[in-house]
Parts: sequence; C-alpha cells; structure tokens
Amino acid sequence: MQSVQTTILPVHPLRPEPARIERAAALLRAGNLVIFPTETVYGLGADALQPQAVQNIFVAKGRPYSDPLIVHIAEYQTLETLVTHIPDEAHQLAKAFWPGPLTLVLPAHKRVPAIVTAGMPTVAVRMPRHPVALALIRAAATPIAAPSANRFMHVSPTTAQHAFADLHGRVPLILDAGPCEIGVESTVLDLTGETPTLLRPGGVSLEMLQSILPLVQYRKPHSSSQAELETDEARKSPGQMLIHYAPTIPAYLFEGSTPHIHAAMLATLQQHQAQGQRVGILLADEDMDIFAESGADLYTLGSLSQPEQVAAHLFAGLRTLEEAGVQIILCRTFAEQGIGLAIRDRLLKATGSKVITAR
Ligand code: TXA
Ligand code: MG
Repeated sequence: MQSVQTTILPVHPLRPEPARIERAAALLRAGNLVIFPTETVYGLGADALQPQAVQNIFVAKGRPYSDPLIVHIAEYQTLETLVTHIPDEAHQLAKAFWPGPLTLVLPAHKRVPAIVTAGMPTVAVRMPRHPVALALIRAAATPIAAPSANRFMHVSPTTAQHAFADLHGRVPLILDAGPCEIGVESTVLDLTGETPTLLRPGGVSLEMLQSILPLVQYRKPHSSSQAELETDEARKSPGQMLIHYAPTIPAYLFEGSTPHIHAAMLATLQQHQAQGQRVGILLADEDMDIFAESGADLYTLGSLSQPEQVAAHLFAGLRTLEEAGVQIILCRTFAEQGIGLAIRDRLLKATGSKVITAR
C-alpha cells in the first residue's frame, strides 16, 4: 500500500469547527479514509456506499473481508435507506439510546455494498452521539462505514495518538477531539432472529437494553473453554474472536476475592521477575498499596466503585504497558454489572481467555 502523509487535525469536541469538518468530509466523499472520534473509540471511516473506499479500510487495517463493518448514520431517516425492514424493537431502542453507543443488526437493503456486510444478509447500523462524528456524517452527506481505527487484532484506540500509532502512513487525516468518553466499543444487538441477541456487550449495558426489551439474551463467553468460538453467535458476529483485542504480549486475568487476587498476582509476579521479566499490572486504585513496592509497572484503571472510569482507561492501560516494554500483563477482574460486562468481555479478549481463579 502506498504511504501517505498523516495529518492530525485538532477539532473542538463539542463545537467542531465547520471548516475542519468540511476538510474531512471532502476526503470521505472523494473515496478516502478519515479517522474520527466517537464516544466509544476512534473509527476508521469511509463512505459506506463506495465499495472501493470501503475496501481501503480492510487494506489499511489488515482486516479480513469476512468481518463486516458498522455503518454510522446521523439521522434516523437514513436507517430506512439501509435496511429492508425496521422492527418495532429497533424503533424503541433507537428512541431510547440513539444517538449513542448501540449498534443494531438488521436485514440489509441491497443498496448496502457486500463488502460492508461481508456478504451477509444483515447490516449493523449505529448513530454515534459524539458531536464530531455527527457533524462529519452530516457534512459528508453519506453513511460512513467504520471499524475501530486500530490494526487488525490490536487494542481499539481511545485517542488520536493511539490511532496514529497503528495507522499512520495509511490514512491522510485524523480528527483529534481528545480521549473518548466511554472507551469501550458500542453494544452490538442482533434484531434479525427470534429473540434479540446481544452479540457484543458495550456502552449500552444489558440492563439498559432489558429495561426496553426484557427478552434480550446474552450467552456469556466462558473463560474455561474456547468452544464458545464455534457457536452461532461467533459465526453471526465474525469479528468477535476471543483474541480480537489482544495486545502483542501474554496477559492473564485474575478472578476471585480481592485478597486472593492480590496473593495470586504477587506470586505470579515474583515468578516472572525471578526469570528476569518485566511485568505490567492493570489494577484498581484500591489495589495500589499492595503493589506499590513490587517493582512491577503499574497502571490503575480507576476505582472499583467507578466502572465507567475503568472502561474509559482500559485500552489506554493495555497500550501503555505494551509500549513500556513489559513482557507479561497481569490484570484483576471487575464487577460484571452495567458497563462491567463489556469490561470483562474485553479483558477476556485481551488475555485470550487466560483466566486464573485465585482461591
Ligand atoms: O463503538 C464501535 O462500535 C466502534 C466505533 C468506531 O463505532 N466500531 C467498532 O467497529 O467497534 P468494529 O468493526 O471494530 O466492530 C464491529 C463489530 C464486529 O464484531 C463485527 O463482527 C460486528 O460488529 N458486526 C458488523 N456487522 C455485523 C453484522 N451484519 N452482523 C453481526 N455482527 C456484525
Ligand atoms: Mg474493532
């Protein structure tokens, strides 16, 4: 792929400057890629209705064509042009959570290029709530296909600098509006089957979905077995491979009561230090005292009582430890309520489901 100069263009997160948005929109209309902020993570956007432009996304990321993309819209009416049918459930959810971190999988209109849907009969659509994303989609006057702006298999970017690190030379422009508010990707909900099915937990929690649709189902990934990968859900959402978010170094997730987690982490830490390895630890504010003198590289994700903070710092934490040059990452588990379900999902992916149950 031919190398291009990548410009990082600062843009006001709440009142984006029209001329800067127009510069990005013109690139999109001409079939180029633009990296832009959303409230979840930064996206790598292309005009969803230009197959050539969308192909550039796959090339830039090194992403297999079997993994379909989310189409981002700014007005509800655009949904009607992308799908053949809008079930009542979609109306209700859109009313409650759009614009916001919810992606709905619906029957695709033939207008949507096959490269977007990976040839599947369904399309994933979301209306982000970040003012820059909304302004960009409106200015481009076209729906925008966008995966997370990271290299395939790497951690999603929550800053323009993360996206630059992965994709510079492959994208002409990055709109930089600072760190993303939510920090984990959108919730993906499939509305094409008998029962609404959560394919990926994210910024809109399972509890929030169930407050509108009590029957929403979710099959939790099991840490103990990789068999889940072979299930229907995995085939339906091909991007949901367990290692999707993995940093390039081995990582372990510790679960159990906090004192047991501390003891098991310390033991593992000492083993690896004895082999001369540099160890990174992802922990909570409340764990800091225990590890302060441990000689490990520590990154605190926030307080155990503030799961939103933890979610917002998670990907930055993985990248920071990776860049620090640690040879192994140890991470604690967090409560599974609310956004906690998405945190657990991403941690399982980051660790390749290597879970140590401390007791
Ligand atoms: O928060 C987000 O969703 C971010 C921002 C940029 O919007 N985007 C994002 O895109 O995370 P990506 O491509 O990294 O993840 C999209 C997920 C993948 O797991 C993909 O398999 C799934 O959505 N997906 C896309 N189209 C689908 C479809 N038609 N049916 C089922 N799953 C689909
Ligand atoms: Mg992604």
